Amino acid sequence: MAKITASVYTSHVPAIGAALDLGKTQEPYWQPVFRGYDFSKQWMKDNRPDVIFLVYNDHANAFSLEMIPTFAIGTAASYQSADEGWGPRPVPLVQGHPELAAHIAQSVIQQDFDLTIVNKMDVDHGLTVPLSLLCGQPPQSDFRWPCPVIPFAVNVVQYPVPSGQRCFNLGKAIRKAVESYDQPLKVQIWGTGGMSHQLQGPRAGLINKVFDNAFLDRLIADPQGQASVPHIDYVREAGSEGIELVMWLIARGAMADVADVADVAGGVKPKVVHRFYHVPASNTAVGHLILENT
Ligand code: DHB
Ligand code: FE
Repeated sequence: MAKITASVYTSHVPAIGAALDLGKTQEPYWQPVFRGYDFSKQWMKDNRPDVIFLVYNDHANAFSLEMIPTFAIGTAASYQSADEGWGPRPVPLVQGHPELAAHIAQSVIQQDFDLTIVNKMDVDHGLTVPLSLLCGQPPQSDFRWPCPVIPFAVNVVQYPVPSGQRCFNLGKAIRKAVESYDQPLKVQIWGTGGMSHQLQGPRAGLINKVFDNAFLDRLIADPQGQASVPHIDYVREAGSEGIELVMWLIARGAMADVADVADVAGGVKPKVVHRFYHVPASNTAVGHLILENT
């Protein structure tokens, strides 16, 4: 049986990718950001998963306004880095896991979540920046990510976007799907995006440290309560792009302590192995958590 071993949460600011790619990580502005991931890079080496199920949002790179899936699962064998206007990031091809992805699609759709199945797409900073932060820059001599990745894209760009509750419930369905796969794979689930930021309009540059830290507290201790928070609260308190945080609820909903109606496995809280918060990176508050199932 496959298992979800841990969940990882991180912001995905594109300027972080540029700082990495251009060798700026030691500059005074960036040093405190990357320091927050030193622990995480070692933790990834010590706890290497077989597959990462990576929840992120596409920023109009793979999907334009012509077609907007609410939830899209990548079932391809590999994914190229998207050209976001400055050329594709110089990172390895992302290898997929078509067998597990197809199994999760089958199981989650049968659990009444209507996923879009994507057999070909490019992946943007929403996916590649978290990989870079946690895995570091792969050496030229072994230019690949440490394991296959299943991209799971959520629409948090064009309204209507899914609620926190829907995302949380989807996480529960994903855990059931993973646990019904008949290979003994260690799977990590990552939730990315956030934290507070607004990129447009009169409130551009908005950051809310109080909201962000309360979100982190509650995501750990009371995820069901956090799931019931409506969009308008995120937008008001965390800015228009702060709504990306609902994706963290998908990862949190997949952790073992979250009980479902027909599921008595819940109970033991995950172990908080790392927590980091820093303001600012570009226009964004950077938040990062690692939770292990015990
Ligand atoms: C920024 C942050 C994001 O999450 C994003 O997707 C794009 C830009 C920023 O801070 O500039
Ligand atoms: Fe974003």
